[in-house]
Amino acid sequence: METKTSKESLTILTDLVLPGETNYLDNLFGGELLARMDRACSISARRHSRRIVVTASVNHVVFSKAVPVGSVVTLEAKVSRAFKSSMEIYVDVWIEDRQSGKKTKVNEGIYTFVAVDETGKPVEIPQIIPETALEKERFKGALRRKQLSLVLAGKLKPNEATELKALFNS
Ligand SMILES: CC(C)(COP(=O)(O)OP(=O)(O)OC[C@H]1O[C@@H](n2cnc3c(N)ncnc32)[C@H](O)[C@@H]1OP(=O)(O)O)[C@@H](O)C(=O)NCCC(=O)NCCS
Repeated sequence: METKTSKESLTILTDLVLPGETNYLDNLFGGELLARMDRACSISARRHSRRIVVTASVNHVVFSKAVPVGSVVTLEAKVSRAFKSSMEIYVDVWIEDRQSGKKTKVNEGIYTFVAVDETGKPVEIPQIIPETALEKERFKGALRRKQLSLVLAGKLKPNEATELKALFNS
């Protein structure tokens, strides 16, 4: 089976927050940010698999800091692990200070995409070789997160989620 590194799927999207994309507090509307994250993850999944990809699940999103109108927002998405046809993609979201350029992390999300053929049938994809310490950490936890997502979707019995159970027994 073909292998690829995480960084080959790196996707960086930088854009502004305009007034029409904000809530009553003049901060970026959550749904708008989710859409941007989905787009970045979709491109990353496509770069990894070189196939048609669809969002299977949004596993986790943290809105840790508000993103004010006028901000320059950068999303960095990378495939953290590939399974048979599905991929976990991590997306980190940063804003930068207008004067100093200093970057602050404001959000993080974990998405699952599935590579499919023209009829929507899942197809096999290359495996991931993690390189950096962070890539290795995210790779290691990905099976546990996949099992949790499948349990929540009713596609896996809790007693079959071996990696997830091991977390509670450790
Ligand atoms: C995602 C989809 C292709 C999965 O199809 P399926 O018939 O359930 O296929 P499978 O059960 O074989 O699952 C395929 C893979 O997805 C994974 N998967 C399915 N649902 C999942 C979930 N909720 N969370 C995590 N992984 C999931 C399976 O574990 C499997 O992974 P693997 O092949 O790497 O082991 C199908 O449900 C679909 O097309 N959904 C609609 C997608 C869509 O329209 N998205 C929004 C617009 S892009």
